[in-house]
Order: sequence, then structure tokens, then C-alpha cells
Amino acid sequence: MNLLPFLEPIRAHMERVEQRLLRASDVEFPLLRAAVQNLLRAGGKRIRPAVAILASQFYEADADKVISAAAAIEMLHTATLVHDDMIDRASTRRGYPTLNSQWSGEATVLTGDYMFAVSASLAAETDSVPVVQIFSRALMTICNGELRQLLADRQWPPTREAYEKRIYSKTASLFAASAEVGAVLSAAPTDKVALIRSYGHNLGMAFQIVDDVLDYVGDPSELGKPVGSDLSQGIVTLPALRYLEQAQGPDAEDLVKRAVQGENAAVQDAVARIIASGAVDGALEEAAEYVRKSHAALDRLPACQSRDILAQLADYVVARRT
Ligand code: IPE
Ligand code: IPE
Ligand code: MG
Ligand code: MG
Repeated sequence: MNLLPFLEPIRAHMERVEQRLLRASDVEFPLLRAAVQNLLRAGGKRIRPAVAILASQFYEADADKVISAAAAIEMLHTATLVHDDMIDRASTRRGYPTLNSQWSGEATVLTGDYMFAVSASLAAETDSVPVVQIFSRALMTICNGELRQLLADRQWPPTREAYEKRIYSKTASLFAASAEVGAVLSAAPTDKVALIRSYGHNLGMAFQIVDDVLDYVGDPSELGKPVGSDLSQGIVTLPALRYLEQAQGPDAEDLVKRAVQGENAAVQDAVARIIASGAVDGALEEAAEYVRKSHAALDRLPACQSRDILAQLADYVVARRT
């Protein structure tokens, strides 16, 4: 399997996660099996399961349970992508056509639901009520965040508070949960569990900011998914927020407002001006600040190979273009 280079030391674990995922999705109904397995085989960076595995290695953990938990995390993440692409009406994911572009909404939603159930079953294999609890809470937070983005987060003017809450809910909460389940399975002391969770939380915040930046300046063929859709769908992310904070006069505000209201010409103009204003670079600096916080949490954990790899992962998250 393709792996980010710095994850080579945990290749054997990652391959076991892959096998576990494919086995868990070996459902009898061929259409459902193909839908789930094609999504999994299409790749993805596998960052969240890697975080769970590495987080479990500061202390002693049962290897089989860690693999089940890591597979559960990736399955949950993939299920959220199925639903997210339907909500966003996205055409491609991981370089392939999305389910929603091929199937009805009903079939797409049910496939995502099926994957959530597989994820719960994998999580239950850990025999750990705390792990199942962390999972359920993360999923509640993600659904809440996506619903808020859909129904409530469109007040004008957009605020940083709402943005931060939203990216925590939809993304950082799962990164935090990935790190926490690894730590909990290794019976780490409570204060260390909190530090490992904090690493995941800050990493996830940085990750979503970079994702939001890539929606402005990313290459869709490298990303395997469409770009440029956030603003046109009325979603104001950090580059636009920074542009609004710094822009002089009502013209800038009016332009972004017309863009989020779906005026096509305004979207293109706004995107160009936001990029030209340096707001994208400013957003990347904010992501780097979250990465610094994740390093600070790591620095207070025992030195070991996993800690070094988690540090490299944090640096990768702000440098990545895919
Ligand atoms: C995409 O996550 C969804 C976001 C939270 C931005 P990834 O970029 O980790 O997606 P894959 O798993 O690598 O496809
Ligand atoms: C990620 O947000 C949402 C999820 C929790 C699935 P995005 O909507 O920005 O993710 P992409 O850009 O489609 O991957
Ligand atoms: Mg999306
Ligand atoms: Mg995005």
C-alpha cells in the first residue's frame, strides 16, 4: 500500500488495518460490498488510523485491539466522507466518482449508515467501554458540526468563533478521538491521555485549516476532489474571514457577501482577491500555530520513536498539498 514516507516504521500495523477494513466490509450484497471496498481501495492518506496506532505506542497496548480501533476510526471517517460529498454535491473523492454522483440520495445515505455500523462493530472489538464512548461522542460532535454548517452557520457577518467551533466539530474532534483511543488502549496515565488528545485536537485544527486553504489554491487532480466549492456553497473559511478582517471599506464585504449568496461572478472575483490579499498565507500561519501547539503537547510525553513520527506528521500537515 501507498504510505506517507515517515509512516514506514509502522507499515506492518497499517497493512493489518487495511486487511481488517476489507474484511469488515466483506458484505454479501455485491453492490454494497463494491461501494465500500472501492472507496477504501481508492486510498486516502490514512492519517487518523496512523495517529491512533502511534498514540498507543507510548505505553503497552494489546496490538489486536489497537488495529480494530484504528480500522474503526478510518471506517467512521470514510462514512463521513460519503455523507459529506452528498451534502456538498461533490463529483469526485480520492480520484474516483463519488457514490452520490452515481447513486440516488437514499442509497448513498444508507451506504454511509452501513459504514457507521461497521465502524461501531469494529470499535466494540476493543472490549473497552471508554473507547466506544469516545467514538460515539466524536460521531455526535461531527453530525452536530455538519448540521450547524448546513442550517445555522450562515449568519452575516461570519465570525471566527463560529469557524473555530465548526472545524473542531467536523474535523479536529475525530483527530482528538483517534489520538485518545490509542492512549486509552495503552492504559496511559490520565494526564498523558490528555496530552495525547491535545496533540490530536491541535493537529486536526491545523489539518482543516489547510484543507480550507487547499479549497482556494489546491490542485484538484492531486487532491482527488474538487476545489473552489466552499465559498460558492456559502461556507466562509479562514482565508475569507482573514480577508474580511483586513479589507478596507464596504466593497470587500459586499463582494464576499454576494459570493456566499451564490452569485457566480462574485465568487470568482472574491476568490482572486482573497488569494491576492495574502489571506491564504495568513491562514497557513495560523495552521502552523496549531502545529506548534501539537508539538508542545508531544514535548511533554516520553521520548520514543512514535513521538518522533507524530512530530513529523504534524509538520507534514502544514506542508501538505494533497
Ligand atoms: C478529508 O480528509 C476530509 C477533511 C476532514 C478535510 P482527508 O484529507 O484525511 O481524506 P483522505 O482520507 O486522505 O481521503
Ligand atoms: C470535512 O470538511 C467534513 C467532514 C467531516 C467529512 P470538507 O467538506 O471541507 O471536506 P472535503 O473538502 O470535502 O474533503
Ligand atoms: Mg466536503
Ligand atoms: Mg474541504
